Amino acid sequence: MIVLSSSSQTSLLSLFLFGFVVLFVSFKWISSYSKNKKSSPPSPPGLPIIGNFHQLGLRPRESLRDLSQQYGPLMLLHLGSTPTLIVSSAEVAKEVMKTHDLAFSDRPSLVIPDILFYGSKDIAFSRYGEYWRQLKSIVVLHLLSANRVKSFRQVRAEEVGNVLDALKQSCGSSVDMSALLGSYTSNALCRVAFGRTYDGLGFTNKLKKFVDLLGTFCIGSFIPWLSWVDRLSGIHGKAKAMSKDIDDFLVSVVEDHLVKKKINDQGEVTQDFVDILREIQNDKSIGFTLSTDTLKAVILDVFVAGSDTIFSSLDWALSELIKHPRAMKKLQEEASEIGQGRPVIPEEDLDHMTYLKAVVKEALRLHSPLPLLLPRESRQQVNLMGYDIPKNTQVIINAWAINRDPTTWNEAEEFKPERFLNNPMDYKGLHYEFLPFGAGRRGCPGLHFGVVLLELVLANLVYKFNFELPNGVDVTDLDMTEANGVTVQRKTALIVVPSPRF
Ligand code: HEM
Repeated sequence: MIVLSSSSQTSLLSLFLFGFVVLFVSFKWISSYSKNKKSSPPSPPGLPIIGNFHQLGLRPRESLRDLSQQYGPLMLLHLGSTPTLIVSSAEVAKEVMKTHDLAFSDRPSLVIPDILFYGSKDIAFSRYGEYWRQLKSIVVLHLLSANRVKSFRQVRAEEVGNVLDALKQSCGSSVDMSALLGSYTSNALCRVAFGRTYDGLGFTNKLKKFVDLLGTFCIGSFIPWLSWVDRLSGIHGKAKAMSKDIDDFLVSVVEDHLVKKKINDQGEVTQDFVDILREIQNDKSIGFTLSTDTLKAVILDVFVAGSDTIFSSLDWALSELIKHPRAMKKLQEEASEIGQGRPVIPEEDLDHMTYLKAVVKEALRLHSPLPLLLPRESRQQVNLMGYDIPKNTQVIINAWAINRDPTTWNEAEEFKPERFLNNPMDYKGLHYEFLPFGAGRRGCPGLHFGVVLLELVLANLVYKFNFELPNGVDVTDLDMTEANGVTVQRKTALIVVPSPRF
């Protein structure tokens, strides 16, 4: 029999205790690891440093939809060191944008928007908080309310008149419809925001470069320790130069507004967005200091958020109508019935054009200009569908995939405006199956403003003209390829040959 001395007994006890502690800690670590794993949404395996970036491809909306078919409607990707939830179903979108809207209402800090929008002082890119809340409510109440949108009726009517005149003069010859619709959108926005157009100063061109830059990929936004790569590649410098250029322009616009009051044909003082924001700036009772940088950032938002979105929706809507003669005929019949031979269809008659509304919805369903909306970020830890989502997790809603989900939409890839007739499904942010304007606190405040610009010109275009493709190309052969970019645009311009209907 082996008898241990008291010192050996103490060592054995220490060894035993040590072993026990190691086992206990290992057990805790393993169980917490597997618990963590279980409490994170499914994730495709990624690569060191870049994570899942390589899986996004040239068309992230499509790659993400394909991945979601394997990993589910809520998956976790790592874009560099940024954990990013990808939402691909109406059910999960509702959880994020309704049930947990407040928790997910932040926006991530992004390098280029920060430079271009005076330190993200605009609405779209600013972080959730009192500043954003106050600014958004100012914009919703004072710039984009139903009454304010109505007050710009004359501008819209004149700009639609300009499009119709241009087409009238080009009947029988080829017209670059994309260019015409692009100037319609930017002229209307310029007149509403600035009270006049600024084509001579190349504003439209500047804006295009601005939007292109906004969509430039910046590695520093996802892997902060690699931000030196962006500085080295010159993106930061380019963004700073662009910001200075646009700022010089906006400063001159604001200065213009210091002196002149605009009077309309009826002798009334008219106000554009800059006038309204300046009035708010001088109103001390509002309890919010609207700095000049904020004013300029909001004006930039109007152009950046409004121009390409409205233009591309229009371009696609007309393309789809041209490609689908049956839908075009049905809309033209409705337009003739409403127009009754008058020179134009006025805005107040649009409410009676149910097929037009269905066409616009269907075009927005298939060609949502912002297919991944704008990224959100969690402000706190959230339990989302049984998973623990930590604070500062980025969220991307794949609205493109949701809008085409075959479990919601019959023949989801087909252009069928009829699906919206006698159907309460709307784009106002209450139906998570259809999200062209997003939803919840971060939803688009310009919906009403955008839709009326879209509907008015579309109604009048089809009322007044027939459209064919040049060189006798059959309309069903119209190229519908999408370009890559921030907003989903046609790859090639829409060229048509218009002819008068009466
Ligand atoms: C067809 C036209 C338009 C479409 C399809 C559209 C779509 C969108 C979408 C998808 C978002 C992101 C929503 C989200 O993250 O949940 C958004 C945000 C926004 N849009 Fe629009 N938009 C349009 C027109 C406009 C117009 C005309 C304006 C202003 C005059 C505007 C101003 C904004 C602003 C300021 C935001 C940021 C809201 C925030 O972060 O709180 N949009 N828009």
